[in-house]
Amino acid sequence: MVKKVAILANGGDVSGFNAVIRAIVKTAEHHGVECYGFIDGYRGLLKNDYIRLSSADTASGILQKGGSIISSSTNANVFHYKVIEDGKEVYKDLSEQCVQNVKDDGFDCVFTLGGDSTQKSARDFSLRGINVIGVPKTIDNDVACTDITFGYNTAVSVATEALDRLHSTAETHHRIMVLEVMGREAGWIALESGIAGGADVILIPEIPYDIEKAAETIRQRQKIGKNFSIVVVSEGAFPKGGSISVVGERNNGKGVINVKLGGAGEKVARDLEKLTGLEARCTVLGYMQRGGTPTSFDRVLSTKYGAKAMELAIEGKFNVLTVLQNGKLGCVSLEDVVGNNKEIGAVQGGTAESNVRVVTMDHDLVKTARSIGINLGD
Ligand code: F6P
Repeated sequence: MVKKVAILANGGDVSGFNAVIRAIVKTAEHHGVECYGFIDGYRGLLKNDYIRLSSADTASGILQKGGSIISSSTNANVFHYKVIEDGKEVYKDLSEQCVQNVKDDGFDCVFTLGGDSTQKSARDFSLRGINVIGVPKTIDNDVACTDITFGYNTAVSVATEALDRLHSTAETHHRIMVLEVMGREAGWIALESGIAGGADVILIPEIPYDIEKAAETIRQRQKIGKNFSIVVVSEGAFPKGGSISVVGERNNGKGVINVKLGGAGEKVARDLEKLTGLEARCTVLGYMQRGGTPTSFDRVLSTKYGAKAMELAIEGKFNVLTVLQNGKLGCVSLEDVVGNNKEIGAVQGGTAESNVRVVTMDHDLVKTARSIGINLGD
């Protein structure tokens, strides 16, 4: 019997965190279950820092709010956690402390709202005896085993609006307008917003690009009197035989991508300017994609995921991730989500074992883009 549960929100913020929290709280109350929220994701689990969540006060009026009312933390792999000892940075496995906290507090289940790395840690906690249920979050849409993550639709919608606005300048000043969007090593945001926003060229990490091919598309448009073009570049896109654009390194601990992406759009703009003779400008959309009010789609998706997660807890079905597969709400084992990345403490990202969901060449979005003549850099 589940009586007391806790939620944690982990990783980069997205629109929809609060909608999931609200749905879990409301469903919990419906079943007479007490609900709590750890502050700052896994960091709160480690510090045992949590608050009571109730639809009457702490979790009231939050459906449309961006961010997370219980905050979130990035780079908090508690299985490989940075601590300072004798003035030196060392990494320690502090997961036992978290397990002890959950046991002492009497939480029957912890809901882990987060992306691939968060769910990898959730799976590792399940092996340490904690009941967990994951909810797939990220604007990147790259969590394995689900068709869609919450936050993604809002990011696509923000990028689409940006493209509509960039069209004005492109047409008025006969320019190439490049929009750089997020997504890490997955091109979902670029591809979907590019199609929605009428892009002429979309460059994604899954297709290393030949800039000459992109330039040719733009020159063909010039020939028919279109002296402007719209180009969407995913932050992780890179030229054939070249490498990703990076603005800095960061030490995130084991298994986490240690590079901060940036500069891919500007590089494409400079190269296209040289090759076409048209002026090119780059806009980096950045954190605009993650903040603010969720779209109605994300509000509903988040509510479905949150309610389902709590229903699963009531049924006693733990160590799973809520998913949407072929439009149907369900769940899969966290073991399937982590794929071959089985080592405890090694979170996802940037390793050969990482089980992130990237764009495949047989996906309808790729086929549709090609059918209507969008150049994908090849
Ligand atoms: O994974 C979500 C994401 O927004 C990526 O698209 C982006 O590369 C990254 O997070 C940025 O992370 P940070 O908040 O650490 O700058």
